[in-house]
Amino acid sequence: MMSYPKHKISVAPMMDWTDRHCRYFLRLISQHVLLYTEMITSKAILHGKREQLLAYAPCEHPVALQIGGSDPQELARCAKIVEDFGYDEINLNVGCPSDRVQAGAFGLCLMKSPDLVAESVAAMKSVVKIPVTVKTRIGVDTQDDYASLVAFIEKLIAVDIDQVTLHARKGWLKGLSPKENRILPELKYATVYQIKKDFPHLPLAINGGIETLAAAQEHLQFVDGVMLGRAAYHDAYILAEVDQKFYGARTLIKTRQEVALAYLDYIKTQTQFEPKNLLRHAIGLYHGTPGARRWRQLLSASPFVLTEVLDFLAV
Ligand SMILES: Cc1cc2nc3c(=O)[nH]c(=O)nc-3n(C[C@H](O)[C@H](O)[C@H](O)COP(=O)(O)O)c2cc1C
Repeated sequence: MMSYPKHKISVAPMMDWTDRHCRYFLRLISQHVLLYTEMITSKAILHGKREQLLAYAPCEHPVALQIGGSDPQELARCAKIVEDFGYDEINLNVGCPSDRVQAGAFGLCLMKSPDLVAESVAAMKSVVKIPVTVKTRIGVDTQDDYASLVAFIEKLIAVDIDQVTLHARKGWLKGLSPKENRILPELKYATVYQIKKDFPHLPLAINGGIETLAAAQEHLQFVDGVMLGRAAYHDAYILAEVDQKFYGARTLIKTRQEVALAYLDYIKTQTQFEPKNLLRHAIGLYHGTPGARRWRQLLSASPFVLTEVLDFLAV
């Protein structure tokens, strides 16, 4: 059945956060972690500033593009474009509950239309060789019984999905904001594990509330991959040991200082962007260390004073 190489650890798609600069920064910390883009809609890819939207640095590989949409033919056209841009995977968003996404009739509400999701995946798979994957939740609204989730997964397997990532909580389309939808519905890891037991050949990644590599390691006893979201953004240096722990790498782990200096060098080359929009991704680099507060202040200072940052980094 599916032969998609399993990425043990990935960083989740996060709107406004995992842009190309953030991904560049994270790549300085781990060479192997799979990085997801923010969700990009099919309409934006087809009608927007494509070159700008899909641009990324070669060092970002492996990098997966997350798409939002629900028109199989549109999605297929986009999948081809995404493949031609060199992305390593295309992932369909079936988990986002925001009003904007609901207005476009995609994201989480697609969980209620399993046939359309399957048709979309099939349409994309028919035109590309890269893996086509889906990120979804364990339920939506009152459709939160195990049998419905199984029926959904079966539809995806029938069209040869390459991997499913399950956010281990259901989502509510009405009444909760996207932020609340990432906190309030109860995390049910056992449901995700059960799916792996019932569909052992399906490459399956788990997501939701996983904050350390030790926790990721535990989950990997039951599933093939772990997707880290907020923890990888707010405390990016937790990724520092990913290559050694999960990919058998023997390369030296960069220190925070080395990561910071390399990222500052990169920022200097990105003259067309506001430095503060790039610096914001590095604000959590010293999270949990005595310098955390000072670092945060230095990076958010306006104007940003490079010499003070270099003093902090003792160079
Ligand atoms: C700021 C932010 C933006 C997000 N944007 C997306 C998105 O574009 N697509 C998506 O599938 N999930 C999105 N998510 C959800 C995350 O991918 C992830 O499923 C969620 O945060 C739970 O994982 P965590 O507990 O490790 O953070 C977003 C989350 C955050 C915090």
